[in-house]
Amino acid sequence: MDKAANPVLGSVSDQYLLNVLEAQRDPEAFWLAQARRLVWHSEPSHASRSDFTGDVRISWYEDGRLNVAENCLDRYLLTQPDKAAVIWEGQEDGHRTVLTYRELHARVCRLANTLRRLGVSKGDRVAIHLPMVVEGVVAMLACARIGAIHVVLFGGFSAEGLAERLRDSQAVVVITADVARRGAKLIPSKTTMDEALAACGAESAVRNVLVVAVTGATVPMQAGRDLSYEAEVALEMPDSPVEVMAACDPLFLLYTSGSTGRPKGVVHSTGGYLVWASFTHETVFNSQPDDIFWCTADTSWITGHTYVVYGPLVNGGTIMIYEGLPSWPAPGRWWDVIDRNGVTVFYTSPTVIRAAMREDDSVVESRSLASLRVLGTVGEPISPEAWQWFHDKVGRNCCPVADTWWQTETGGVMITASAGKVPGRPGAAGLPLPGVQVELLTPAGAGQEQPVVEGAGEGLLCLSASWPGQAMTLWQDHERFRQTYFTTCPGRYFSGDGARREADGYIWITGRVDDVVNVSGHRIGTAEIEDAIATDHEVVESAAVGIPHDLKGQGLVVYVVPREEGVLDTARVRKVVADSVGRYAAPEKVYVVRDLPKTRSGKIVRRLLRKIAAGELENLGDLSTLSDPECVQALISQVAEQQ
Ligand code: PRX
Repeated sequence: MDKAANPVLGSVSDQYLLNVLEAQRDPEAFWLAQARRLVWHSEPSHASRSDFTGDVRISWYEDGRLNVAENCLDRYLLTQPDKAAVIWEGQEDGHRTVLTYRELHARVCRLANTLRRLGVSKGDRVAIHLPMVVEGVVAMLACARIGAIHVVLFGGFSAEGLAERLRDSQAVVVITADVARRGAKLIPSKTTMDEALAACGAESAVRNVLVVAVTGATVPMQAGRDLSYEAEVALEMPDSPVEVMAACDPLFLLYTSGSTGRPKGVVHSTGGYLVWASFTHETVFNSQPDDIFWCTADTSWITGHTYVVYGPLVNGGTIMIYEGLPSWPAPGRWWDVIDRNGVTVFYTSPTVIRAAMREDDSVVESRSLASLRVLGTVGEPISPEAWQWFHDKVGRNCCPVADTWWQTETGGVMITASAGKVPGRPGAAGLPLPGVQVELLTPAGAGQEQPVVEGAGEGLLCLSASWPGQAMTLWQDHERFRQTYFTTCPGRYFSGDGARREADGYIWITGRVDDVVNVSGHRIGTAEIEDAIATDHEVVESAAVGIPHDLKGQGLVVYVVPREEGVLDTARVRKVVADSVGRYAAPEKVYVVRDLPKTRSGKIVRRLLRKIAAGELENLGDLSTLSDPECVQALISQVAEQQ
């Protein structure tokens, strides 16, 4: 890396470049040194024993022993017990709670004791199904304290979506809310969970449901199974021993979508994941001890795990949690949260930025936002215009913007323009973090060699070496893990994304190259949608595709072939998806068509469906491989009639 020859690297900080070089020269030593960020009961003697070939093995700090809750809480009881660990603001006026490290520790211990009393032990799964309330953070850390594996479930999942994940994880305890607030709406968390448990029937392992009184609403409680969270934790002492875990014991599993139907339970480790959370939180956001760090993600997504909870807390920071929506009860609500609480780092999504851009600029301009120091975005590509707006209007031209590319499977940020170290470039994700080995591979036909793209160029985004935050496996399906990530580009981890690299090394993410659609940062497998629709007996076949959407980034469009020609209630199709996956996955548009375009070997040609749905009819590409090229014209007119 020659700084003199490369004007961009000339402005990358020296310390950063030094880290990149060190990590390249001796990754083992570099990552072992990073492990010293944590407190260990027994320090690891080596870093990685990972292998991307054969059966695939992801293993970090194997002989190290530690506890995550101790790293996030107990160590700070000695140095900063009265520092705010969490600032929580509710969406109702006047609802605000500040918990110091001492107070958060006490709450975590009370719940840890409760879970132990309910028979939860090391390795058991506990499902957490809560809105953005303090108890969500407490619950994750309480699980970590006793070595239970947490499974955080999104509040927007349907009962069937919850049931599928409860069956797969075999969670023994669920922590849910009575009712959750979402703007003017009330979400019936407990009754949805009841439906999910009823749907699981004998396949559920759930013994107890702890119900947090978020609104205080009266909800049905099943005797012997359901317990009041508040009443139970009140019975316990505010101290509790930690379970000392091996670094490769699972800390949590988190479900995400892939290109096949069933959600995948991504399993993250205890030691490697926590090192990654600490390293990336500090490096990417240039974190400072007096930061008020606000990552706006829901805790049920990986971003919430790593940057609402684990990253900032393991580094001894203060986290901001806000219960509500950006523009409720009025536009600018989130800017008020920043001003009222002195937020210094604001990490959000392009969807939120696009929505704010649609409001009058006076909304953002009328707020101070003077406390902000660093901005970040995640989850989907951010257009250069949105990046610039974020930088100019929210950052007032003086805060670095870190777009961050990463995935549930990577545990934390992988490619970014780290604040204060790497200059941001509107629309580009940035440079790989130190120790992250990105390779772009040219797609090739089956059995053909895939050349690595050197220098500038475009290809499949792969990682050629493991990193501490890498997921270890998929829950009880290691073979699926190997197949999904390590077979497309043998010997490498394949992300599912495409990317372009500029001559100076900056990487632009071009989007998913598999059948995954990104709707407002929600990752949705099209197969999941099609499986849901297949349960409707009036439908012979369906295909879901993503098309560009102004606000959501991508929108879902579904093509359905009805059993009886031309007869199908499209509202019912949307409902089937909402019921089986969740409302967030309901398609924008359902087209009823006679046939789907297929290759001679019977594969649906999604590329065509995407173009037709997006109205890009000029260049439909080569149609000669279709079994019935005639069907394309028919399809175009059927879609036009329904637009
Ligand atoms: O396609 C990429 C997109 O989101 C996918 C990962 O989704 P998920 O596992 O839900 O994690 C989201 C939060 C880390 C990626 O495969 N993605 C994520 N961040 C970016 C992005 N696309 C472009 N730019 C990003 N910064």
